[in-house]
Amino acid sequence: MTFNPLAEKGIPLDRQIRNWRELDVEPIDPDAADPYTRCRIIVLNGIEVEAVLFGHMFGRTCTDPEIRRELAYVRYIEAQQQKAVNWLLPGIPSALETTIAYEQVAVDLTAWIARMEPDPYLKQAYEFGVLEDFDHLYRYANLFEMIERRKAEKVVDGLTEVMPGRPTKAEHRHPYDNVREPYDRNTAAPLSKLHALTVMAAEQQTMNFYMNVGPQYMEPIARQLYQEIGMIEQEHVTHYESLVDQGESMWEKLLNHEYNECYMYYSFMTQETDPKVKAVWELHLNMEIGHLQQAADWFRRHDGRDPAEVLAPELPQPVRFEPNKEYLRHLLATQMDLTTLGEGYVTEMHERFEQMQAQVHGGEEPASERVIDEHRERFGYEYRLETEGPHPVDWLRDPGGEEKK
Ligand SMILES: [Fe+2]
Ligand SMILES: [Fe+2]
Ligand SMILES: [Fe+2]
Ligand SMILES: [Fe+2]
Repeated sequence: MTFNPLAEKGIPLDRQIRNWRELDVEPIDPDAADPYTRCRIIVLNGIEVEAVLFGHMFGRTCTDPEIRRELAYVRYIEAQQQKAVNWLLPGIPSALETTIAYEQVAVDLTAWIARMEPDPYLKQAYEFGVLEDFDHLYRYANLFEMIERRKAEKVVDGLTEVMPGRPTKAEHRHPYDNVREPYDRNTAAPLSKLHALTVMAAEQQTMNFYMNVGPQYMEPIARQLYQEIGMIEQEHVTHYESLVDQGESMWEKLLNHEYNECYMYYSFMTQETDPKVKAVWELHLNMEIGHLQQAADWFRRHDGRDPAEVLAPELPQPVRFEPNKEYLRHLLATQMDLTTLGEGYVTEMHERFEQMQAQVHGGEEPASERVIDEHRERFGYEYRLETEGPHPVDWLRDPGGEEKK
């Protein structure tokens, strides 16, 4: 089935403002909901947060008062969409439970995108990053059991494995080495542009979430772990945002943003199992079509180009949430010891990396290591969820893996 949002009617912009009753969405049931429904909510919230922030950046650099008013209008609608989406999350889970869901999103969304990405350099960027969020999931899962006495399998529901990835300790790179080479806006596949925007938005929201919830904890180990992983998420935002061609005009960027919003709502609408949530995705898709028309109009007027030159003629194959266990095990077995040097990837621990490590760790073990040690001390084992057998990397096999079973 093909779908071209540029050819659809959508909801006109002047009919998109909602009242409080319409914004007061019913949250999903935390016990009965599909974990991937929660993942879709988290991604689309990140997409809407990016829409709002991008709208602000655009407004701050735009000298035309008429455009600034129009930007303020559509940004208000994006902000309402963000409220409707994020308020689908139930109030019961702790910030840590939501954190585990955020890392599950980072793992299964980025792995899917890596699998589908046609450009090898971009694919490598996603494969590199996913092993780091995979490790965060494992560190937070140990913290979760330690401070809440609950198990991460209740959150990820066996869809995503929990075990070490590239150790968080080794993810603290020199900032120069987090800047990648961008795709070329004139030759990149439309799908590549959408992938980069989506992962960038998801990581940005993760960065913002950790910087806000981290200090709410009392336990020192929790505060320290959020600080440490929060710094990695900022590295990830740099890593992914640098993939997006900086030479795109703001009109082109806005067009790509709105097209991506259409793509993501369409994708998740086709996969959604919860009918009430699906209705929100469908409504928002129809709103985004209205935003896209305005962005396309501006692109023609101000950039003097036809949107068809930069957008796909129809939406690419939908993004899906599904288990990526075998793919992740393959990456663990082959890309664990990569780091970055300049815009590329290397396996040796180069000088700039070593210097950064020495500066940031100050000769001590970071919280990401201590959380595992403390968990082992208290419980006699470390928390893992290895549904497909032992860890594919020998030195990362669970030391207590046999006794546990
Ligand atoms: Fe939106
Ligand atoms: Fe992460
Ligand atoms: Fe991340
Ligand atoms: Fe939009």
